[in-house]
Amino acid sequence: MKIPACLPALASTVTSAAVSVSTSATTPAAPTVAASTTPVGLLVPLYEYPTGTTATADWQALIDAIDAHPQLPFYVIVNDGNGPPYSPNPPSSMPDWAQWIDLINARSNAKTIGYIYTSASARDYATLTSAVDQYAAWTTTAGFTNNASAYDIHIDGIFFDEIDTQPSKLSNNVALTTYAKTAFAGRGGPVVLNPGTLVQAGSESLFDLADSILQIETCYAKSSEATDPGNVLRCPAGGYTPFTTATPATLGTNATRSAKSSIVVHDFYEQWSPFEAASAASLQAGIDAVVNQGVHSFYFTTYGYTTNFTSAPASITDVAAYAAQIQNLS
Ligand SMILES: *[C@@H]1O[C@H](CO)[C@@H](O)[C@H](O)[C@H]1NC(C)=O
Ligand SMILES: *[C@@H]1O[C@H](CO)[C@@H](O)[C@H](O)[C@H]1NC(C)=O
Ligand SMILES: *[C@@H]1O[C@H](CO)[C@@H](O)[C@H](O)[C@H]1NC(C)=O
Repeated sequence: MKIPACLPALASTVTSAAVSVSTSATTPAAPTVAASTTPVGLLVPLYEYPTGTTATADWQALIDAIDAHPQLPFYVIVNDGNGPPYSPNPPSSMPDWAQWIDLINARSNAKTIGYIYTSASARDYATLTSAVDQYAAWTTTAGFTNNASAYDIHIDGIFFDEIDTQPSKLSNNVALTTYAKTAFAGRGGPVVLNPGTLVQAGSESLFDLADSILQIETCYAKSSEATDPGNVLRCPAGGYTPFTTATPATLGTNATRSAKSSIVVHDFYEQWSPFEAASAASLQAGIDAVVNQGVHSFYFTTYGYTTNFTSAPASITDVAAYAAQIQNLS
């Protein structure tokens, strides 16, 4: 999975939003929840192949959370093997995914968004647009010889991973985002860009095109040698800025940009070795800070993106419950 092995520090690329801090005494000091009309949703990076007892328990927990909180938006990233292009399309693995995509599509507060990596906005453009087209072409599984059910496998939006927002990449990023917005117009799902760090000065126009930009993707663990199942060191000490309740405010005071930003925090434990779990109170404090920033969407995982979605404290069940509770959503 294309989980960044080493997430850059957050501090170096503050956007020009900081300019607006003190222009008027009537400007609120920080965005408030009440000011936003669409609830802050969950951007769920459930990059877990949906077979086997553990994985299907995680997918079922997601479906149950969607049902438990009908007013809470869920944007579920669909990622089968790092995304298209597939041959054939839909991929031959689709019978394993179909019933879950169908269950999400049957729920009005949930949207499916297709994963595409961009290799730091440098992947071949024709390949990227072909990947967008492939997701857009998914309809049902009718005709699959090994699973004849006509599951609804349509996709509502796109998640572009590994976006580089340096200005030299802007025209490429603009073209790609515009292409996806056009291809998915009317489907109601977001087009999300993931630089994982704050948008660089000069590329702010991306906020006018994307539905959300994942500007903060980081670990909670303060220092750790944790490796994922692929043996990738995810949270190397010094290689990332650990999430604290002060982190969401680094998005700045421009409420429009916060409302088009996402935050994903993984490895939500205090220490890997010896393992020290994070508390539920820490999770709630983190979610409070993220929601109070007025973002588009967020997620917290106890470990990574490929397993442990039912592990405490950041289980799908509890992340969704806190997100709904703090926003007074049913
Ligand atoms: C806030 O962000 C939006 C979207 O990027 C931009 O159009 C607007 O000019 C910004 N406002 C200020 C005060 O910087
Ligand atoms: C389709 O595939 C899924 C996942 O393998 C399975 O659970 C389901 O029972 C299959 N449906 C049919 C009708 O074979
Ligand atoms: C992930 O799940 C496994 C199996 O339930 C468990 O042994 C492990 O402690 C979990 N890891 C975390 C970080 O919660």
